[in-house]
Amino acid sequence: MLVLGIETSCDDTATALVRDGRRVLSNVSTNQDEFHAKFGGIVPEIASRQHVALLSAAVQDALERAGTGLEDVDGIAVSVGPGLIGSLVVGVASAKALALAGGKPLYAINHLHGHIFAAFLETGIEPEYPLLALLVSGGHTQLVSLAGPTRLRILGRTRDDAAGEAFDKTARLLGLPFPGGPEIDRLASRGNPAAFAFPRHRPEGDALDMSFSGLKTSVKYFLETPAGAAANRADVAASFQAAVVDVLVDRLERAASRDQYRAVVLSGGVAANTALAQAFMAWAQRRGLPGLVPQRRFCTDNAAMIAAAADRQREAVRADPRTLSADPNLPFELPAAALA
Ligand code: KG4
Ligand code: ZN
Repeated sequence: MLVLGIETSCDDTATALVRDGRRVLSNVSTNQDEFHAKFGGIVPEIASRQHVALLSAAVQDALERAGTGLEDVDGIAVSVGPGLIGSLVVGVASAKALALAGGKPLYAINHLHGHIFAAFLETGIEPEYPLLALLVSGGHTQLVSLAGPTRLRILGRTRDDAAGEAFDKTARLLGLPFPGGPEIDRLASRGNPAAFAFPRHRPEGDALDMSFSGLKTSVKYFLETPAGAAANRADVAASFQAAVVDVLVDRLERAASRDQYRAVVLSGGVAANTALAQAFMAWAQRRGLPGLVPQRRFCTDNAAMIAAAADRQREAVRADPRTLSADPNLPFELPAAALA
């Protein structure tokens, strides 16, 4: 099946053509960072307007790069949520129009499911269930169990900041530009992760929840002390990063010791983090589980992952192109009716 994927949930205007949920024929992304960087974060109105300006050309570009036309496409997949409403509606409107005009099936994809299936792009590996997935992005951080491609359940989530948000906020404290995750990654590679002992907060209780706002605050207070002001920034970045990695690996370990899994995936924008990806793979190996991290270009928001999800979720996510609407607060689990 050849799927055209469209992703506009946040600030990337992305399109892709993917065959059989794994071969990426084209993957186009117009990053808007330059428009948002001066505000230190994403400005929803700017993102929405940029999507309107860029999306038609991005669809055309993806088709041309794949050497194909709309007539050869078997389905159109679009992120319907969660995300910024003004951004989501642009992709959804365009996908609906293309599906109606071309008489193609339309697939309404949860952006977060896309992140999980990104791990299988260009690998030749198919997901094995039950699958454990740790999703770490700018807006979400959650541990997920998949009994099948459409049967997803949240085991634990962050109670405050998402992991990516913690990276971005800590980067700002360190005077680094937005988005801060890659900046901390780079700076930390020259620092000592054991230089400072920042807290590893693990909320009590049965749920495998996480919390990162206390960590960010403790970096903030530390930087305000004389020792902090004089500290090597690379050491601070590496020590902060090590605390995030420890908490995430701890949650994975707890989940894997409670239930049996056949594979484990790390995904979302923060999966691009060098130290986290290394610690994750080392942990999976210790556990004897096949571990998978998407290629870097598929970690952050992209449209190939949306097509990859559509190919595996098929009828459960089939939508009516006349009535589909974006949902900025889309629930993570598919409704029971869709699984019947
Ligand atoms: O998944 P994503 O592209 O967008 C969302 O759906 O949120 O994730 C973006 C997040 C940002 O917070 C960014 O700082 C973080 O991923 N990120 C990283 C790295 N690359 C991106 N965080 C740590 N290390 C990285 N190398
Ligand atoms: Zn994302």
